[in-house]
Amino acid sequence: MNRLGLYANQLAHHLTITDNRTGKTIEIPISTSRESDFIHSIKLGQLQFQGQPLRVYDPGYMNTICCTSKISYIDGDKGILEYRGISIEELAEKSTFVEVAYLLINGELPSKSQLQEWNEKLRKHTFIHTDASQMMKSFRYDAHPMGMLISTLAAISTFHPEVNPALAGEGIYKNQDIVNKQIYRILGSLPTIASNSFRNRIGREHNMPHENMSYVENFLYMLDKLNEKEYKPHPKITRALEVLFILHAEHELNCSTAFVRHLSSSGVDIYTAIAGAAGALYGPKHGGANEAVLRMLEEIGDLKNIPQFIKDVKDRKKLLMGFGHRVYKNYDPRAKIVKQIAYQVFEITGKESLIEIAIELEKIALSDPYFIQRKLYPNVDFYSGVIYRALGFPTDMFPVLFTIPRVAGWLAHWKEYQNDKENNIVRPRQNYIGPEKRNYIPVEQRKEFPIYLESNKSSRQKRRETATLS
Ligand code: CMC
Repeated sequence: MNRLGLYANQLAHHLTITDNRTGKTIEIPISTSRESDFIHSIKLGQLQFQGQPLRVYDPGYMNTICCTSKISYIDGDKGILEYRGISIEELAEKSTFVEVAYLLINGELPSKSQLQEWNEKLRKHTFIHTDASQMMKSFRYDAHPMGMLISTLAAISTFHPEVNPALAGEGIYKNQDIVNKQIYRILGSLPTIASNSFRNRIGREHNMPHENMSYVENFLYMLDKLNEKEYKPHPKITRALEVLFILHAEHELNCSTAFVRHLSSSGVDIYTAIAGAAGALYGPKHGGANEAVLRMLEEIGDLKNIPQFIKDVKDRKKLLMGFGHRVYKNYDPRAKIVKQIAYQVFEITGKESLIEIAIELEKIALSDPYFIQRKLYPNVDFYSGVIYRALGFPTDMFPVLFTIPRVAGWLAHWKEYQNDKENNIVRPRQNYIGPEKRNYIPVEQRKEFPIYLESNKSSRQKRRETATLS
């Protein structure tokens, strides 16, 4: 059977639906894929009532397939993740992030010479325009690095008007050379933008990229080099971060990746689409979760406070951050690898005290019926934050460390989307429950409806309100 396309027996199975509003019966073919069977919801539109087609209602896309993809495969019940058919465990053990990015974006592992060329192209694009670098320096001293990263990516769009579909023509991304160039630029420059955001935070000049270090090594170099003549990050730390980058590179249609496709559907340039996706990733239910896990572990603070915390979670006062997943209803395969890396990192950095709390929390949660019944297991973010902490990253850098590798997945989906014959502007429908048609009433004749208009006030504003105004 063809694993990548629809199965041949597409028409063999179908759904028979009778609409009891009209008595009409239709047959809808059931398509089969490796992941799940599905129907095309547009076919339900054949069922019309009072001139309106039948639609499906699915807030949060709990049960909706919105595209056909060949990039990654997840079996949430079995805890399986594959990039282009290769298991995440094998890639984490044998590959590098740059090779994985090639695999995701181009569909196959590179040959030796292709890998060399790919590395060269990315290395050439590690330099960012000095205006972008200058712009980054103008952020406030305490600006969140994700805010800097997102804004810089969006700003870089203005540096390349000649490849912006809004300015250079809608079909510009049909040109493969132009698509490839944007991939090299974005993937190549991301560690530079990310390390600049970190250097701003610590009040140091931005470092220039190294001429022949690997992708991850160069990132660590740009983060940390001071005035040493030679600065080489520890190889075990480089490898640990490399594996974390591999694990975070792609995860099919998560919130941010779906957003890349959503934004690209409008024809917007890829820099703006990537900035928008990074915005989605920043949220605490998505890529911001590792930051939220750390804050949660710090708040718990001591093993003795865990039972009360678990009680608060079960009383729905709190969420156990780093637990649960929309797709995995089993142990996230990435979380298992991250847990192993944690111990490899501790061998070099010394043990991070919060790991004790994390392990105990996991132990209690995995044996508690509340979590068992809901199939809540640790996800990739549960232990990654503890590693980042042990490696000395400030908490607000965590989502940045997630964004760098995930850009590989976003670019893979963007490239796939450009060649997708089914691509169309994303435009969901709504279930309107507002007022029926009514007339505009002049202000003098309106009655007042109680609407809450207060907003929060700072102490300064309250002080100002006590002043005599003239
Ligand atoms: N702690 C406590 N209860 C939870 C949690 C949690 N972390 N996650 C889900 N539940 C409960 C939820 O209250 C619900 O209970 P009930 O059926 O009694 O109402 C049940 O489990 C099912 O949850 P759900 O909200 O239907 O699950 P979802 O698929 O909509 O949400 C999630 C998935 C990741 C948003 C959610 O599990 C969550 O908020 N987790 C914490 C944040 C987190 O770790 N996010 C990182 C996700 S992995 C990284 C990534 O891919 O971005």
